[in-house]
Amino acid sequence: MKEPKRYLVTSALPYANGPQHFGHLAGAYIPADIYVRYLRMMGEDVLFICGSDEHGAAITIQAKKEGITPQTIIDKYHPLNKECFRKIGISFDIYHRTSEKLHHETSSDYFKTLYDKGVFIEKESEQLFDEKFQQFLADRYIKGTCPKCANEDAYGDQCEKCGSDLSPTELINPVSTLSGETPILKTTKHWYLPMDKYEGVIREWIDKAQASEKWKKHVLGQCLSWLDQGLHARSMTRDLDWGVKVPLEGADGKVLYVWLDAPIGYISATKALIPDQWETYWKDDETKLVHFIGKDNIVFHCIIFPILLMAHGEYVLPVNVPANQFMNLEGNKMSTSRNYAVWLYEYLKEFPGQEDVLRYALTANMPENKDSDFSWKDFQARNNNELVGIFGNLVNRVIVLTHKYFGGTIPDIPTEAEQAVLEQAEEVYAALQAFPHELDAAIHRYEFRNALNEVINLARVGNKFLTDTEPWKLFKVDADKTAKVLAISLELIARLAVYCEPFLPFTSARLKKMLLLDETAVQEVLAGSFRVKAGYQVGAKELLFSKIDDAQIQPQIDRLATIQQVLQAAKEDAASTPVESTSFEPLKPEITYEDFSKLDIRTGTITTAVKMKKANKLLQLTVDLGFEERTVVSGIAEHYTPEDIIGQQVLLLANLAPRKLRGVESQGMILMASDKRLHFVAPVDVIDNGQVIS
Ligand code: 2FM
Ligand code: ZN
Repeated sequence: MKEPKRYLVTSALPYANGPQHFGHLAGAYIPADIYVRYLRMMGEDVLFICGSDEHGAAITIQAKKEGITPQTIIDKYHPLNKECFRKIGISFDIYHRTSEKLHHETSSDYFKTLYDKGVFIEKESEQLFDEKFQQFLADRYIKGTCPKCANEDAYGDQCEKCGSDLSPTELINPVSTLSGETPILKTTKHWYLPMDKYEGVIREWIDKAQASEKWKKHVLGQCLSWLDQGLHARSMTRDLDWGVKVPLEGADGKVLYVWLDAPIGYISATKALIPDQWETYWKDDETKLVHFIGKDNIVFHCIIFPILLMAHGEYVLPVNVPANQFMNLEGNKMSTSRNYAVWLYEYLKEFPGQEDVLRYALTANMPENKDSDFSWKDFQARNNNELVGIFGNLVNRVIVLTHKYFGGTIPDIPTEAEQAVLEQAEEVYAALQAFPHELDAAIHRYEFRNALNEVINLARVGNKFLTDTEPWKLFKVDADKTAKVLAISLELIARLAVYCEPFLPFTSARLKKMLLLDETAVQEVLAGSFRVKAGYQVGAKELLFSKIDDAQIQPQIDRLATIQQVLQAAKEDAASTPVESTSFEPLKPEITYEDFSKLDIRTGTITTAVKMKKANKLLQLTVDLGFEERTVVSGIAEHYTPEDIIGQQVLLLANLAPRKLRGVESQGMILMASDKRLHFVAPVDVIDNGQVIS
């Protein structure tokens, strides 16, 4: 799309049935906040929309379990999450809620419009019914064995093991999650969205979207994988009493499907924020709509919601959906239900004043293209080595020296002294010149890790300049040159103060205060015209960051280790198998280096993955080697779902003779490590594809 006139940015509406953890933040909230803060800083017209998702089975089931009403649950977590987001600096323009009357009206009207346009198919069918609870069972209310992969814990809408889209009646041995009993079949009426009819237009739209902005490989791969498996009609209503009532005659006891109502929550929140102008943001072609989400929400934002928007006809479609992958915790999957997570509200309590440290650590380690891992040791190292050691150290030295030598005010600097420093400052000037462009490019590519790196690298350049010029020695021999060195350093720090705002908003505010930068100065920095001249004053020194010692993080590490031990013990108990001692395979006979060098092992990325028909163990993959693509049939279907592995970097044995498996030619072999299951082997950092392993 050409330069947008305005941006509409959304972050996934979290269910209001629990607190937020680090994984949520790193997935959909910190990246969106960086993007939005940056756009605002550059003077763009931007709205940042979010709120609580307060319907759906996740909430009603929890309410039943705890013996309280859904309303009690959402009234507890909506304000808690809203406040935690505020405290960590997520700058939503509105944090709305889907239980609001305005949202009920908006989503109900939306449904009615589609109904009147004849979009839905009305169908009576036999559905599973819990006689004890007198309730129809859909989605999370029903569990059973997946007909596709035999997973015994598949839900009524989806099997989390193989990623298949299911309907409750497809499950083998279905059991109600409410009563634990086998349901009966009972007739009921629902309104279905015939998604199959939209397959072509969705493909076209996704294709076209790539022309203006490339989507992340794993997002695109997941969409194509769904489309390749064929879209099916999906019911847009449910037999429940919690949610938005279906606005039709004869639809008593029915509500809208939560994945119809929740994304419309973005629209109703915009309405609540700007009742008179919301339509400009949602209906004018010059709006750039971007959804920030976690990877488990891709299908809803890239296929189902766009179909609903297209079916309506008046709304803009997202230009990009830069979904993140998952963040693990100390090497294990984060899990709300198993309480294996670090909760934001606890962090805010236990690390007061260190909001930016968390933002920094989560951004530096953001799961942008593959799953990443948060560890407290890494958090500590990032703080101590980078924030304290590089950023804070630079600021501290420059402010202290400016006070010590010049009473906090840059004096007149004779031209000869200015000239004398210029050569040594070349690197600084080059960095200052390139920095805003590099940063801008990274942000617009949604590469927030790289963008943050640009910021910390600029601080590195500043530190090197001090090391090269040694103002603490220079002052004794040439006070004028020292003044120029500090003036240049202050110019660099002013850039840092302004441009770190999207990442470290609290630090930015403190640093601007320390440098006495008012709004005019900030605008000069952004325009590249800011200069530190004679008479420029700095304020009092303030400590930006402080070291985090082992004693602060050890309790956190211990807590997580204890949870893991308990979970592990429970798992072993459940299996009631004695712990096996590890056995090792015997070593193979020795080979020469020549033998080894015959193997051509390359880095590649899985770009598509589909289950192979009638082959439980096999996935058909496309692996991008940079210079070409390979089709590979891999026996990993029992360990990974197609959705899990799209975007995964792998090592491919690329010169293995091709082999036909189930009629498909497999052009290489993916290297895997195995203990009790299979694991991918890949470079520790994501590197270019097609690189040789030697
Ligand atoms: O996965 C979730 O937490 C959902 N509540 C996200 C909804 S996003 C949007 F569609 F509202
Ligand atoms: Zn399955």
